[in-house]
Amino acid sequence: MLDTISTLRSQIETDAAAVSNAAEAEAFRLKHLVRKGTIAALFDRLREVPKDAKRETGQALNDLRTSAEVTFEAMQSRFSNAPAATPRQDVTLPGRTLYHGHEHPLRQAQGRIEEIFTRMGFSIATGPMVEDDYHNFEALNFAPDHPARDMQDTFFVKMEGRDDILLRTHTSPVQIRLMKSQKPPIRAIMPGRVFRNEAVSARSLAEFHQVEGLYVDRGVTLAQLKGTLFEFARAYYGSGVKMRFRNSYFPFTEPSAEMDITCFLCNGTGCRICKQTGWLEILGCGMVHPRVLRNCGIDPEEYSGYAFGMGIERSQLLRIGLDDIRLFYENDIRMLEQF
Ligand code: PHE
Repeated sequence: MLDTISTLRSQIETDAAAVSNAAEAEAFRLKHLVRKGTIAALFDRLREVPKDAKRETGQALNDLRTSAEVTFEAMQSRFSNAPAATPRQDVTLPGRTLYHGHEHPLRQAQGRIEEIFTRMGFSIATGPMVEDDYHNFEALNFAPDHPARDMQDTFFVKMEGRDDILLRTHTSPVQIRLMKSQKPPIRAIMPGRVFRNEAVSARSLAEFHQVEGLYVDRGVTLAQLKGTLFEFARAYYGSGVKMRFRNSYFPFTEPSAEMDITCFLCNGTGCRICKQTGWLEILGCGMVHPRVLRNCGIDPEEYSGYAFGMGIERSQLLRIGLDDIRLFYENDIRMLEQF
């Protein structure tokens, strides 16, 4: 029996040496390694082996099977990795498009506004969104019975022992904080989120963004305010834009104005966006009220200042000609993708 085993071993070695492709490797397996193969046949004959030789014979058979299996595995991995007759990579396939995110159109607008004003020498300042009545209204010269203080317009924050805490309704309280903490010259813009208790519609949101601007120094004039805002409008809305100031009223500026630019869609001839007027309102502004300067410890006899404020959502709506402010907050990829 041991002789038979050793004959089979040399047979298997000869066969293995002749294998040169995957099909021949498979033939090798079918001949020697399956249930009806040569090795299994010898295992079947173990029964005939005398008891005292069984152990040695069984051992020799096991060794043979193991080495045949190892040989087969080796040839299998050699041939299955062989290069195919045709190249696997089709270099003519078009490349895959990689989709990646980008800044939200509102962040883009804020970034552009910041860039334009920092280029003109303004720094960027921020302040708290949860404010008190003093910074949001009183220091800004809002009379105690001013309607903007009403529950209808302002979100108040419940707080033990205090009834003057609110979500800021504009970025103007940051003016107050700046003027109280710095000596003139002060030249900063103040972007940030603001809150108003308003019904959400195509034209207004209860939560939106503003950029406030403030310049306080000796001899600051309305002409400088106009020049600065005109430069801004040209840079932001396009060099062909015209502007006009309209009388207005804010408690914290005197005189006060609202600024319009010519509708860039119709170029001033009148269309849906400008409601046939040819003009679009873009911001409120004015010379800082002497009382506000005084509230902040700045002598209005020595210093003067201008301030302006605009809505970021609105500015971007106008720039890109959208007619529904809510689109900015719907996270609809079909809309965001376009900017
Ligand atoms: N704070 C004003 C508003 O929210 C805008 C403004 C700012 C007007 C600064 C004048 C000067 O409507």
